[in-house]
Amino acid sequence: MTTQPYYLTTPIYYVNDRPHIGHCYTTLVADVMARFQRLWRGQTQPAPTDQASVFFLTGTDEHADKVVKSAAEHGKGPQEWADINAAEFVKAFASLGIANDDFIRTSEPRHKDKVPGYISRLMASGDIYKGEYTGWYDEGQEAYVPENEARENDYKSKISKKPLVKRTEACYFFRLGKYQQRLHQHIEQNPGFVQPDARRQEVLGRLRPPAELFDIPVSRPVTNDPATQWGVRVPGDEANRVYVWIDALFNYLTVVDTPERRRLWPAAVHLIGKDILWFHAVIWPALLMALNEPLPGTIFGHGWWISEGEKMSKSMGNFIDLEKLHEYAAKFGLDGLRWFLATQGPLSGSDADFSHARFVEVYNTDLANAVGNCVSRVGNMVEKYFGGSLPANETVELVADPAAGATIMQPLATLYDWKRLSQEAVGEVAKNIGADGQQGFDPGAALLAGAKLVRHVDAFIGLTRPFTVAKRTDDQSKRALAAILYQCAETLRVASVILSPALTTKIPQLWQAWGCQPPAGTTLANLCEWGGHHALKPGQKVGKGEILYMRADGA
Ligand code: MSP
Repeated sequence: MTTQPYYLTTPIYYVNDRPHIGHCYTTLVADVMARFQRLWRGQTQPAPTDQASVFFLTGTDEHADKVVKSAAEHGKGPQEWADINAAEFVKAFASLGIANDDFIRTSEPRHKDKVPGYISRLMASGDIYKGEYTGWYDEGQEAYVPENEARENDYKSKISKKPLVKRTEACYFFRLGKYQQRLHQHIEQNPGFVQPDARRQEVLGRLRPPAELFDIPVSRPVTNDPATQWGVRVPGDEANRVYVWIDALFNYLTVVDTPERRRLWPAAVHLIGKDILWFHAVIWPALLMALNEPLPGTIFGHGWWISEGEKMSKSMGNFIDLEKLHEYAAKFGLDGLRWFLATQGPLSGSDADFSHARFVEVYNTDLANAVGNCVSRVGNMVEKYFGGSLPANETVELVADPAAGATIMQPLATLYDWKRLSQEAVGEVAKNIGADGQQGFDPGAALLAGAKLVRHVDAFIGLTRPFTVAKRTDDQSKRALAAILYQCAETLRVASVILSPALTTKIPQLWQAWGCQPPAGTTLANLCEWGGHHALKPGQKVGKGEILYMRADGA
């Protein structure tokens, strides 16, 4: 059994806005992964923190200037506005069946009281130093304009058209440049550190000489403008606050920087979107190096969702917000939504399209026609031919039925070696959840290993034709029918375990109906041992249940 803790994080989300598909997707993928990891380790439920070996963190990033701005637009103070929106995120994630172990808000004392401590350590080591920042300043906008933008606009304000002024102010810098070589080496030598590989190449390209890393500003001035007063102060200097990104990155550490939780560090995986890769794959590890903290195992940068073939935008009307996601959950069930997001998302490849037609197709193919239909076919046959009580896996030479058109005469047991197929499925899961020291991070692919088993059951039914076998009354045929149905049901049980991290509503219902709820504390490999200790027992009630997934029309 794996004992190394598995600490998994999502980005923390800005509270100026309400949750949308971007936030929900990342958090859902992390949820499916955390559920797989718990199952893998035999920790079926979120456990008390001091015992948990899997720890899944999400939360909100609150000290951004745009939070103050949008708060003002809503006639609220930043804290009040952050409270309202953070609650929306908590509620949104609960509505998607997400079981995070903790939720961090950067305005909480447990976070903001610890940040100055890290900054002080970095000041003491000389990695953060006070310098001067000089740039083009737009006095009307009270903001610096990057050099290229200033040049493009003839060194005038884009808004007021007044000339920009060259301004210099005190600022704290982090010695990022000092860590270029170590970072480059670390990423070169640890292929799993930045994933997927395209992202790794992107980062390496920017770290490899002649590319040069410069020191970066990590503070912002505090002025009379209330917008500048929201945030964590630089220790010993009330006139400066910690730049929101630096404040935010520290969340991954503050949450576990307690005596009970220290054992969880370093994080196994920081799951993020590709747009925030630089902060996570370069700045964050450099800060950790400077703090002498161990580095996380993997920074995984997924791609983006587009919608109906176009970039999502509110004005285009193709924006997938929380309400839209809830509409899909209402129509296709929460399982339908979780399945689509988890298996069809832009995880490793290019961007993915949230198209309605594709959603319906995936739902029907995978859930209605495969999982739902197969479970109900098998349940119905057990009901019809054995009164709902599971028959035994009789040892019988199963041969295909030539009368029914099949030509294969060899024993079917050798065609479908369920023990081996189940083991292979477990192997697929292990590989894709990065179990046992592997590097994979693809919970969607792990789920598909379960769907594949279901398709094998379908094919097995097609080949053995139990409904034809049932028409014969000889003893051999009766035993064959029993064996076929037992094998189908037991394989579906194994598949259900692998499908359960996504299908959190219906799989537990199936377990209830078939009396095969996995006992707490059992590992995925044990549960998925075909015919093993947790196998369905002959005589067990495996009757006709409720249809798990109704076929949907395209509307
Ligand atoms: N607060 C920062 C992160 C700090 S982490 C220390 C932030 N927040 S955010 O609210 O803007 O949300 C960021 C996440 O949502 C990113 O991972 C981003 O990739 C993701 N998405 C936003 N729109 C998205 C899509 N259309 N598709 C997929 N994910 C996208 O950045």
